[in-house]
Amino acid sequence: MKDTFELATQGVRAGQRRTEYQEHSEALFLTSSFVFDSAAQAAARFTGGEEGFVYSRFTNPTVSMFQDRLAALERAEACVATASGMSAILASAMALLKQGDHVVCSSGVFGATVQLFGGVLARFGIETTFVPGHDVEAWGRAVRQNTRLFFLETPSNPLTEVSDIAAIAGVAKRAGAHLVVDNCFCTPVLQRPLELGADLVIHSATKYLDGQGRVLGGAIVGPRALVMDGIFGFLRTAGPTLSPFNAWVILKGLETLDLRMRAQSRSALELARWLEAHPRVARVYYPGLESHPQHALAMRQQESGGAVVSFDIKGGKEPAWRVVDATRLISITANLGDVKTTITHPATTTHGRITAEARAAAGIGDGLLRVAVGLEAQADLRADLARGLG
Ligand SMILES: Cc1ncc(COP(=O)(O)O)c(C=O)c1O
Repeated sequence: MKDTFELATQGVRAGQRRTEYQEHSEALFLTSSFVFDSAAQAAARFTGGEEGFVYSRFTNPTVSMFQDRLAALERAEACVATASGMSAILASAMALLKQGDHVVCSSGVFGATVQLFGGVLARFGIETTFVPGHDVEAWGRAVRQNTRLFFLETPSNPLTEVSDIAAIAGVAKRAGAHLVVDNCFCTPVLQRPLELGADLVIHSATKYLDGQGRVLGGAIVGPRALVMDGIFGFLRTAGPTLSPFNAWVILKGLETLDLRMRAQSRSALELARWLEAHPRVARVYYPGLESHPQHALAMRQQESGGAVVSFDIKGGKEPAWRVVDATRLISITANLGDVKTTITHPATTTHGRITAEARAAAGIGDGLLRVAVGLEAQADLRADLARGLG
């Protein structure tokens, strides 16, 4: 498909392959393996001498449609799908790093990402330095002669800290390191890190790409050489690939991504403005608000503030839990990116497994709540939060 089409069009159409039956909607290929015409063809497919499907741990037509559509949206040459967002991060690290290498990572990343770099990879001799993402100079200061990877999440989860992708890409290039950006919060509808100099983008497709909280999935997007050589090779061998069923669900989710992201972001901005004016709220974290410390950068780098709003309740954990427990409409769940609005208390859920010091360093206080705004009416969301805010 021509890449001159608008993003909304690509989301609906890119990557589709029709079978001989000329189905209108994308087909779901629930098959673990594919048959060959002959022993010679089997051999040619296995060596890569002939294009074609072999086994669904390597490739599958439904998974390929999802990969091609997401690559088109990120304006990238290639994409490989993974079983979850965490396996996308793991696969990029396994492909780009070896024992003795060093990683620089923004401190405001998802809790499991902190554990993966700071805990799991550390056991294999890969050291990570965490830096405040927005502080470009801190990235430069953290560089060592063995630094091979910069990992950045922007906006960050849950504090929506915004980091300058182009500037950090410049520091990474000078250091001879790859920059990997987690684009989960914005999706390609609102932000395209590869166009700003990032080497790879990773996604938790579990979030906005699916959009309806149904399945887990992930993806790595970038230039063909990086994605197909190292990363695809790791996935094919180690196996954390995406199931055809999940790929089909997320592929159909991409068709409404443009509409959803824009509508949910508009609603999030309205909710953020209302929360900012509320007397029980100490601080609101939302890149679309003028009060956000990186508002100007966010408005340059992103098309809007996104759909996640976090805020500090005056008084800490007890009043924060009261707001959560008083909700009747908003779902109390750790997931985000759904058309159903969700609420979570990060200090005791998503970030509960990291140390209190690491939480404090990341700025996650006991009064913090994260709301991932969905598609319900704004008045109903406000009424649901107002009940517990008092
Ligand atoms: C920003 C971000 N990155 C990565 C992940 C991990 O994704 P998954 O749960 O699909 O493994 C999450 C999950 O919440 C996330 O919020």
